[in-house]
Amino acid sequence: ACSALLSTQAMAQSALETIQNSGKLRVCFEAGYMPFEMKTKDGRFIGFDIDMGKTMARAMGVQFVPVNTAWDGIIPALQTGKCDIIMGGMTITPKRNLKVNFADPYIVIGQTILISPKLKGKITSYKDLNSSKYTIASKLGTTGAQSAKRDIPNAKLQLFDTEADAVLQVANGKADAFVYDLPFNAIYAAQHKKQVVFLDKPFTYEPLAWAIRQNDPDFLNFLNNFLRQTKGDGTYKRIYDRWFKS
Ligand code: ARG
Repeated sequence: ACSALLSTQAMAQSALETIQNSGKLRVCFEAGYMPFEMKTKDGRFIGFDIDMGKTMARAMGVQFVPVNTAWDGIIPALQTGKCDIIMGGMTITPKRNLKVNFADPYIVIGQTILISPKLKGKITSYKDLNSSKYTIASKLGTTGAQSAKRDIPNAKLQLFDTEADAVLQVANGKADAFVYDLPFNAIYAAQHKKQVVFLDKPFTYEPLAWAIRQNDPDFLNFLNNFLRQTKGDGTYKRIYDRWFKS
C-alpha cells in the first residue's frame, strides 16, 4: 500500500520538480507567429515568448530548451511530457481549458483582418465579409479559424497549416481576407503595404496565456508570481518594447 501511494505521488509530481531535476525548462511554441516566435535564417528562435521563456529559465537557474511544435499537436505534446509549458501566444478558450491549465494572461489581443487591396473601402468590418462571394483564409486549429467560422459564417473558409501559407492567399489575390491575431497582422501589413490592407479594429476578446498540465498548483503559483514580478520590475516592459514597438 505504501509503495503504491509513493508511486501515485511520484506521478503527480509538479513540473517544477522535473525542471529542477533535469536542469531544463522545455518550452513548446510554434515558430512563425510574429512577433511572439520566429525562426531566423540561421535556425535560431526569437521573439517575445522566447525572451520571456529565457528570462523564466534564468530565474529558475536552469537551461532554456526550445521545443518547436506544430500547432495542432501542441497540447498533446504538453500532455505527453514533451515539454513543461506552452509559451505560444495561446488564447485561453473553454475547450482548451478543459484539457490544460492557464496562468494569468500575459497580453490581450483580438482577431483582425487583412483584406485584398481591391476590396479597400468596400469591406470595412468583418460583417461586410459575411457573404458566400468572399473567401477567407486562416490557420487550422486557431482562434482565427474559430472566429471566422462563428462570426463570418457565410463566407467560404480555407484553412492552412501555417500563418505564412494562409496570409499568402490574400497577398496573391487567391483569397479576399485573412483573419488572425492583431499583432501578427499589424507586422505583416507593415511589411507588405502594397499586397494587403489592415483592418485594425479587433472584433474578439482574447487573453493569451502560458499553458501547463492539469493538477499542478505549484507550477501555476510560480508562473503567476513570475508574471507579476516581471510586470512590476520593468522586465516585461523591456521585452515587450523590443518586439512590439518598431
Ligand atoms: N492566439 C491564436 C490561438 O490561440 C493563435 C496562436 C498561434 N500561435 C503560434 N505559435 N503559432 O489560436
